[in-house]
Amino acid sequence: MKVVSAEFVRAAVDEGGWPVDGLPQVAFAGRSNVGKSSLINSIVNRRGLVRTSSTPGKTREINFFLINGSFYFVDLPGFGFARVPGKVQETWGEMIEQYLLESPRLQLIIFLLDIRHKPGKNDMIMNRWLTENSLPTAYVATKADKIARGSRAKYIKELSLGLGVPADRIIQFSSASGEGKDRLWETINSSMG
Ligand code: GTP
Ligand code: MG
Repeated sequence: MKVVSAEFVRAAVDEGGWPVDGLPQVAFAGRSNVGKSSLINSIVNRRGLVRTSSTPGKTREINFFLINGSFYFVDLPGFGFARVPGKVQETWGEMIEQYLLESPRLQLIIFLLDIRHKPGKNDMIMNRWLTENSLPTAYVATKADKIARGSRAKYIKELSLGLGVPADRIIQFSSASGEGKDRLWETINSSMG
């Protein structure tokens, strides 16, 4: 996919902020700091489109980015950020859950996990919830550049076993090197028909 335009449209705290133009949407989900915002910047080739940070929990609203004037990338707030008070975390969860269940044009959820770590408690909860609700999900192992190629299979297998998803469905990705971009775009394109 050649990205000719990518623009931030709006940040939503509830359904009142969702776009109403009927264009398809692809959402990016995963725990805080897993690399959601970096991945979006990487696949649209815009270094500064989405703010990234080494401080977890930077993204607190649902951010909508219009790509090529024809579909949205949706950057979701990371889940499981411990330093946020319980009440705020609950509100976040509800906000994300409502979006994922009720947004009419959501085509695909891209679920990001750090290649280096077994799925954590929140990853497992999220994965079960996505499955129970039959939501179309693609799996991405982020920060692949941090693991030597020869050791990757071992880490992917851990993710595969933890999530109950075949290893070959997990896309290895690195925002640092650009690895995995083509495969991810293929997945995104086919979700939009
Ligand atoms: P929240 O907005 O807090 O939910 O985080 P996020 O999932 O959007 O993560 P973000 O993209 O801000 O990245 C978090 C940190 O990981 C930053 O310091 C990034 O530079 C780093 N990072 C992200 N992707 C990669 C990657 O592919 N390789 C490496 N080496 N570092 C990465
Ligand atoms: Mg972010």
